[in-house]
Amino acid sequence: MDAIEKTRIPFDQLEDSSSGAMQRLFSDLIALAQNEANSIGDDESCEAFRVRWLGRKDSIRDRIKENWLIKAPAHAKKLIGTHFNTFATVVEELHRYKKDAIGILDLDVDHVDLSLPGVQRPIGSRHLIRQTIEEIERIFLSLGYTVVEGPEIETPYYNFEALNIPEHHPVRDDMDTFYLELPEDAPTRLLRTHTSPVQIRTMEKQKPPVRIIVPGKVYRRDNPDATHSFMFHQVEGLAVDSDITFCDYKGTMEYFVRQFLGPSVKTRFRPSYFPFTEPSVEVDASCHVCGGGGCRVCKFSGWIELLGSGMVDPAVYGFVDYDQTKLNGFAFGMGVDRLALLKYGLNDLQVLFQNDVRFLRQFP
Ligand code: PHE
Repeated sequence: MDAIEKTRIPFDQLEDSSSGAMQRLFSDLIALAQNEANSIGDDESCEAFRVRWLGRKDSIRDRIKENWLIKAPAHAKKLIGTHFNTFATVVEELHRYKKDAIGILDLDVDHVDLSLPGVQRPIGSRHLIRQTIEEIERIFLSLGYTVVEGPEIETPYYNFEALNIPEHHPVRDDMDTFYLELPEDAPTRLLRTHTSPVQIRTMEKQKPPVRIIVPGKVYRRDNPDATHSFMFHQVEGLAVDSDITFCDYKGTMEYFVRQFLGPSVKTRFRPSYFPFTEPSVEVDASCHVCGGGGCRVCKFSGWIELLGSGMVDPAVYGFVDYDQTKLNGFAFGMGVDRLALLKYGLNDLQVLFQNDVRFLRQFP
């Protein structure tokens, strides 16, 4: 039976209005539409298909609505409505698909200028922070280090205790910490304040010798300004072996600074304090802008503070089951964002986080 004839049957004469029968009725109609759509070959037949199935007057869709949907008794309306909607959507899709296909076939090649340039999409580039991390990685990979990463959500144990920072230790104040808001009975979790916890995680898993660097994000409760941000980046370093000396440490730091800032840059080692290194050292570089004479960048001191470091405090080995009588090592931690500012002569940390394309484009 032709689809039009089929839809002429009034609702009350349909033999069966059960759900299964209705579904079959509508699938039959969709199959008929599909069949007809298959033979559409040009604009004209496409338009004829549209008028016959979906047109505003007397189309198959209209008849179904009139004869079956509107006249259906209340209890059957919902079911028929659902089938009707599916049917209408499928036939509309069939028509649109055919129309697009004909459109493509109809492309008049003589009037299309294939030599016209296409739409240019700008190509992104690595962010300055990413570039700086990769530069630091390159230097340490060339010395035989491997790159490892660790979680940004940490336990107090890894962020503090195992690094020889017990509760109430005053350095905890310097690292004003974000604690996660969790249900009261949940264990405490925090956003790591430095990448040093990955030292512990690595030594727990790996037997010495260890030579790793750890790039990653760290978090502190600081108000954003030209030199502070609540999220910034560090690269941690750790080398542990049976015969590492302070000379190895010094040589490595000097090599890094010259590679990173340039061969004429001098280094200066200043005593400092970190609970997980002993002795602790802060490394300065001679100002690469003025060469050490004093300028705005180095605040007229001739030196720029680069990183914190030192020989691993033997107490730390106790937390990871390393034999402190047989092992030595050094560790360091540097602020990537600060290093990027220094290297590229920028004076505001915030430009690294604002993602202004006018800034980003300067570092392709
Ligand atoms: N974790 C220290 C900080 O964030 C830096 C550091 C790392 C110091 C390793 C010594 C050794 O300030």
